[in-house]
Amino acid sequence: MKKIVLLASGSGSNVENIVQYFQDKPNVTIAIVLTNKRDAKVLNRCNRLNISSLCFNKIAFQQTDCILDILRCTDPDLIILAGFLWKIPEKIIRAFPNKIINIHPALLPKYGGKGMYGSNVHKAVKENDETETGITIHYVNENYDEGAIIHQAKTKILPDDNIDDIASKVHVLEYEYFPIIIEQLLLSQ
Ligand code: GRF
Repeated sequence: MKKIVLLASGSGSNVENIVQYFQDKPNVTIAIVLTNKRDAKVLNRCNRLNISSLCFNKIAFQQTDCILDILRCTDPDLIILAGFLWKIPEKIIRAFPNKIINIHPALLPKYGGKGMYGSNVHKAVKENDETETGITIHYVNENYDEGAIIHQAKTKILPDDNIDDIASKVHVLEYEYFPIIIEQLLLSQ
């Protein structure tokens, strides 16, 4: 049985998509969803989907071993950041080498780094008149959006596309590829 842990800060539509993808696959279980936001919509989704969830604050995450200990006890095969906005402390990265992955809503190395999340990314892509964007699934290291790339997928941007249109196109790619790539990584371990 493979175990995954998901971390999310916001809506959690990727979390829900991943939960649904693995629902009828008996060899993969969602151990827990962790969030740093008490009012994140992802918590409502977890309640509805009957998935364990836990909310933590910055002190627990950065200044104690609380989350590290929870992760160690859970012993996940993969830790998945699905719209999680805080930097992962080095001690967690060191404790889980090559086991933490993130999805970024653009084609890294472009449009990555601190502050590049959510609509900020799509806005920058639009302002630069890019003709394509996409997703990047990558390993997480000490620097924002700089870990080794696992998979990228592209989508075209039309001149009339606004930021919401771009975000929707990127979400389509996320829903299509993120669960499949997670499954492939789990199978290849
Ligand atoms: C996604 O676009 C993901 O790429 C980014 O944050 C967003 C999360 O969306 N890292 P949701 O919370 O899964 O709806």
